[in-house]
Amino acid sequence: MKRTHTCGELTAKNNGKKVTLMGWCDVRRDHGGLIFVDLRDRFGKTQIVFDPQISPETQPFAKEIRSEYVLAIEGKVRKRPKGMENKKIATGDIEVAVLKCSILNRSPAPPFEISDTTDAAEEIRLKYRFLDLRRPMMQCYMLLRHAAAQATRRYLSDHGFIEVETPMLTRSTPEGARDYLVPSRVHDGRFYALPQSPQLFKQLLMVSGFDKYFQIVKCFRDEDLRADRQPEFTQIDIESSFVTRDDVLEMVEGLMGHIFKEVLGQKLPKTFDRIGFYEAMNDYGSDKPDRRISWKLEDCSDIFKNSNFKIFAQAVADKKVIKALKVTPAETLSRKDFEALEQEAKGMGAKGLGWAKLTKEGWQSPIAKNFSEEEKQALIKKLKLKEGDAVLFAAEDWALACQVLGSLRVSLAKKLGIVDESKTDIFWVLDFPLFEYSPLEKRYVSVHHPFTSPHLEDVPLMTSDPSKVRSLGYDLVLNGYEIGGGSIRIHDRGLQQQVFEILNVSSVEAERRFGFLLSALEYGAPPHGGIALGFDRLIMLLAGCTSIRDVIAFPKTTSATCLMTQAPSDVDAEQLKELHIKILSTKS
Ligand code: AMO
Repeated sequence: MKRTHTCGELTAKNNGKKVTLMGWCDVRRDHGGLIFVDLRDRFGKTQIVFDPQISPETQPFAKEIRSEYVLAIEGKVRKRPKGMENKKIATGDIEVAVLKCSILNRSPAPPFEISDTTDAAEEIRLKYRFLDLRRPMMQCYMLLRHAAAQATRRYLSDHGFIEVETPMLTRSTPEGARDYLVPSRVHDGRFYALPQSPQLFKQLLMVSGFDKYFQIVKCFRDEDLRADRQPEFTQIDIESSFVTRDDVLEMVEGLMGHIFKEVLGQKLPKTFDRIGFYEAMNDYGSDKPDRRISWKLEDCSDIFKNSNFKIFAQAVADKKVIKALKVTPAETLSRKDFEALEQEAKGMGAKGLGWAKLTKEGWQSPIAKNFSEEEKQALIKKLKLKEGDAVLFAAEDWALACQVLGSLRVSLAKKLGIVDESKTDIFWVLDFPLFEYSPLEKRYVSVHHPFTSPHLEDVPLMTSDPSKVRSLGYDLVLNGYEIGGGSIRIHDRGLQQQVFEILNVSSVEAERRFGFLLSALEYGAPPHGGIALGFDRLIMLLAGCTSIRDVIAFPKTTSATCLMTQAPSDVDAEQLKELHIKILSTKS
């Protein structure tokens, strides 16, 4: 039999037509005599009927069929009896009366129901991912991913970008995570590193004169995993020569607009808001704020600088800040909830968390009794407080106060259900510091990566106060997720050297690790810049999922294992010997 149609295709227009369908048995219903099967493929479902009046010879097949059997049937399309139509599916007006049937393969009962409403645990879905991927929703995610990849390729090709592949077996790239290493069999004791990104290669391609490069590429990072992080993930990686920061931002705005239009039919603004790193931290306590939450952080240091509440007054005297977050509506939050929030804040390094709730009976708060009437009125005025609102206070260094309240802002807003999910909030965060001081490593580290250019007018600060140097880096934020990051690069060997010095990377070390790039910078490197967009994260948000795993065909768990293949796995002693590797200890 040769398939004539998919299972999502037939409608009343095909009434009377002889067709051949192939697919999986989704459900089988035996009505004693008439046996109905919903035949499923990735295009949809079609009801097929085994009618003993029409084809008695197919009855033994019909009786044997179970869920997930693979069938080929030949039959005649007919309209369903009046009142029996299923308006929920495209083929719901018709059914196919089976004339011939062949069972192409059998299946044991699947470990979970292959349906979008399955309540199977994620572990079992990942173990049988090949079945999980049969679920219509998962197929929909994969198709969406495909559509976004196609839209990306089309847009970038049409705009003069060429796709160039870069090596997977390479040496360490500096994105700040641990490397996945691959031992060399030929070179005793040596290792390749899987790329954390193609950063250095794309810069080299600019030196080679390719002008505009892109790649949809796998990257590998051995880091703590979360719902939006995988050890291997995909980037839309882009680089262009002779561009300014604005050129890159505009190009990405065009690309994102195209992807949203093609994939969701949604129109994005032609240009995206641009906010500074300081503003993002100060107003929202995050460098990837979710602005669908309207709450903003306020600085109340002025109100409390002379307060009788010594903790606040002293904090201001010590050059700390009193940051406040208005939570509205907060009627449902109890003393216990606030105490739990304080624990959360302490977990982030805060000394404590003040709170005050304005109720019908007045202030409910462990600290408001220490506030003067004037301070209370000033607070009400500044935060526009009304009955039922609450305020959280962090009296800490500016950065910690912002970070703590920024994190509570998001978790509380989600808990209270006040995130405006109907909005798409996409914008740029610019003007990050080029360096941040790492107390742990006792040195400056790059906020993006060491090849990011400083604002040229800030270059003199590199010697006087590196912490004040702004970078030409940018992050793209979508609904509170960082979906991309990039920068204008350093194309001058001397400036690159200076950055390495501030990072405390000796010239010997720089030469050893990045000698090839430094050498390339000497051979006529053009000014260049680019970006990488987190493709999985983008798809997750386009699909409306909360886990990146849902939009990756074969993802890893948060402990970086694949439950289906059981990777990582033991290897043969012989293989290890060839690689000159001896396992010193497995876990005790
Ligand atoms: P960056 O490290 O910011 O930049 O990565 C770019 C984007 O990739 C996504 N991303 C991840 N997605 C899933 N799992 C992960 N483990 C993961 N890590 C990062 C994020 C992030 O914004 N070479 C630079 C880009 C450049 O400068 O052009 C880079 O890789 O969405």
